[in-house]
Amino acid sequence: MGTELTVQVVTDATRDAVHRVVSGSFGGQPLSGEKKERSRSLARRMDEPELEFGVFDGDRAVGGGRAVDLQFTVAPDSTVRAAGLAGVGVDATMTGRGAMRRLLERHLERAHELGYACSLLTASETSLYGRFGYGPATWSAIHEGPTDRLRVKPFDDPGRIELHQVAADAVEELELVHDRWAARTPGATSRSAPWWEIIAGPEETWIGGGPQFAAVHHDADGTPDGYALYTWEAAGDDDGPVDQRVVVNELIGLDLTAELALFRFVTTVPMVRSLRWRMAPVDPRIRWWLEQQRQLRLVTRTDRLWLRILDLPGFVGALRPGDDAEVVVQLDDPLAGHVPTLDLSGNWRFRAADGAVTVERTDAEAGIRTDVSGLGAVILGGTPVGRMRAARRLHGGARDVRRFETIVEPATAPFSQTRF
Ligand SMILES: CC(C)(COP(=O)(O)OP(=O)(O)OC[C@H]1O[C@@H](n2cnc3c(N)ncnc32)[C@H](O)[C@@H]1OP(=O)(O)O)[C@@H](O)C(=O)NCCC(=O)NCCS
Repeated sequence: MGTELTVQVVTDATRDAVHRVVSGSFGGQPLSGEKKERSRSLARRMDEPELEFGVFDGDRAVGGGRAVDLQFTVAPDSTVRAAGLAGVGVDATMTGRGAMRRLLERHLERAHELGYACSLLTASETSLYGRFGYGPATWSAIHEGPTDRLRVKPFDDPGRIELHQVAADAVEELELVHDRWAARTPGATSRSAPWWEIIAGPEETWIGGGPQFAAVHHDADGTPDGYALYTWEAAGDDDGPVDQRVVVNELIGLDLTAELALFRFVTTVPMVRSLRWRMAPVDPRIRWWLEQQRQLRLVTRTDRLWLRILDLPGFVGALRPGDDAEVVVQLDDPLAGHVPTLDLSGNWRFRAADGAVTVERTDAEAGIRTDVSGLGAVILGGTPVGRMRAARRLHGGARDVRRFETIVEPATAPFSQTRF
């Protein structure tokens, strides 16, 4: 047994040791030379320095975690500041001693102090984060199908597609489309310039990148309004280039026409026989425009962003419900007794009026009861309130459930396609 574990902000003197431990915990090797420099320079521009933590046993780094500074879209054109927790890892010989718990509690406490309304993460294991009040808020999917059976019904496209063999050549258009798309899409997160250096960069990483085509859709006025990033890969056993699969890494459009045009384009590229569409919505609206909608097969549905609310009034204040409603919600917070400044336990009155929402503590009796993790799952509509009630993760009468749905469920499911 070592000494008491401590959590400290990473400094220039400790950064290498902390990174080494974290990359090792994910099965990686330490970076060196140019790769290391590039990774450090990107991290410097993406990360919140005050949320870069190491866990130490005496002087020895045994774990770490960092956070990117994000804008998170809660409703169309309504965002909050989010800390995107990333790279949480503990030395494999030091697990089970509370290193992750210490790190998470410090991250959440400090992110709250710094004014972040919530913390977001993508989870390596779904068993880890409910205990800190995170819930799965957005979902994404992989769809596949044979391209000759994915024909799109006729539609009118006054725009056109421009194809770039190297995604980096289109980076300004990609960024422009993504900025506008993310601002109006609940569940989406912003991408700063360094993000695009990775996604349009030559190296394939967890975040994106590697050799890929960029098909950019332009509307009738010539303004970019959608894009698809894709590659080809050989599918099946064929020797020659006869059985190609198009792998779409991202496909977004500012409207349905742009999405349909891009989908039609990637499924009609000559020589391509099948499609794999990664980072797709679980229920893409494109499906309703296919001649044979069953042919777009959902092969994987996975939780994407996990959300822990830190500032409840701040977060809820960004919701934009269409109708007025009021309901009292009793929350249980697993951080009660661990991080007093973050304890959201108690009864809260949610009030939606004139397209805005307020929330305040109350002694009134609650109509809905759930925990902070359950709230994270339903707050953007990623999991319907009724589904959580059926699973007994949320309790309440039918009328209160409907009121709560009115407040939290947007017209379309939230969607995020960014990794960090
Ligand atoms: C997952 C990992 C960070 C856990 O670190 P750790 O220091 O052993 O975790 P702790 O000892 O602080 O455990 C904290 C809590 O999580 C629980 N826990 C730890 N690992 C768990 C697992 N794999 N599944 C479910 N629960 C787990 C512990 O029981 C403990 O519960 P409690 O505090 O409520 O009693 C570590 O195993 C690791 O680095 N794994 C590889 C990288 C990884 O998956 N990182 C997560 C990235 S999203």
